[in-house]
Amino acid sequence: MRETELSPSDFIYPIFVTAGEDVRNPIASMPGIFQLSINHAVEEARRAHDLGIPGVLLFGIPDEKDEAASGAYDPEGVVQLATRAIKDALPELLVVTDVCLCEYMSHGHCGVVDRERGEILNDVSVELLARTASSQAEAGADIVAPSDMMDGRVAALRSELDREGHEGVPIMAYSAKYASAFYGPFREAAESAPQFGDRRGYQMDPANAREALREVALDVEEGADVVMVKPALPYLDVVRRVRETTDLPVAAYNVSGEYSMLKAAVQNGWLDEERAVLEALTGIKRAGAEIIISYHAPDIARWLAE
Ligand code: PBG
Repeated sequence: MRETELSPSDFIYPIFVTAGEDVRNPIASMPGIFQLSINHAVEEARRAHDLGIPGVLLFGIPDEKDEAASGAYDPEGVVQLATRAIKDALPELLVVTDVCLCEYMSHGHCGVVDRERGEILNDVSVELLARTASSQAEAGADIVAPSDMMDGRVAALRSELDREGHEGVPIMAYSAKYASAFYGPFREAAESAPQFGDRRGYQMDPANAREALREVALDVEEGADVVMVKPALPYLDVVRRVRETTDLPVAAYNVSGEYSMLKAAVQNGWLDEERAVLEALTGIKRAGAEIIISYHAPDIARWLAE
């Protein structure tokens, strides 16, 4: 009679790949999560795969950042190299790549900044994002996932991918991405905190739900194959409404701060980890998400197997 059942196949597991050799750098605010050099990222992907998790989501931490985010679309960039290495070792594991510029920009914003006007240049940024997606597909990415929230980027990615012979690579769009405090630990992990200003110019106001439906409709029209709501737990009503307005698969991102919050309470002995995590993640699925991106994915897969 149970209506909602979690399975390892519901999950995508995010991995932070860093340039350098043999690095396994713990992220203080995300116990159990590491910045991994490519060799370790392959091993972590293998662990996820062995647990029945169908895909990993790659974020890159380049050794150098600049004001053009060159590392994002470098054919030898850290995500491109990691994608090749993981696809070589584990061809049947899906590799999803994050398409954004913030990890590669010296100022940490998701787009190109016009410092004089103090603005993000939307259209120039979109061109770089399209180049990024295309170079990731070239490296073997199975799905590209734009998380930047620039306007028009899904259409731009679609036409660039098609032009470059990657018609078969789907786009998982972060359609309703809120300007959230819960990305804090990620910015430590990805070393991508904005050096000035904030992301409220391009990410959504947490108070708005109808706007999320408009953002989803635009991305669907532009050719998105999967739409995403992010974060997950404070936005379950949005997950539900998106589920009810589109026939596309809906993904929800159980973000870094949601993970850290639970982990901190567990470390203090205040919550039972297995029960709390399974309850929270069952809630995300019950709300209507059929793909859940979560740092808890390997733990959940292990508990479900036991
Ligand atoms: C990059 C990006 C962010 C996250 C995913 N992609 C951070 C941000 O927008 O600041 C956050 C993921 C997480 O918190 O786990 N644009």
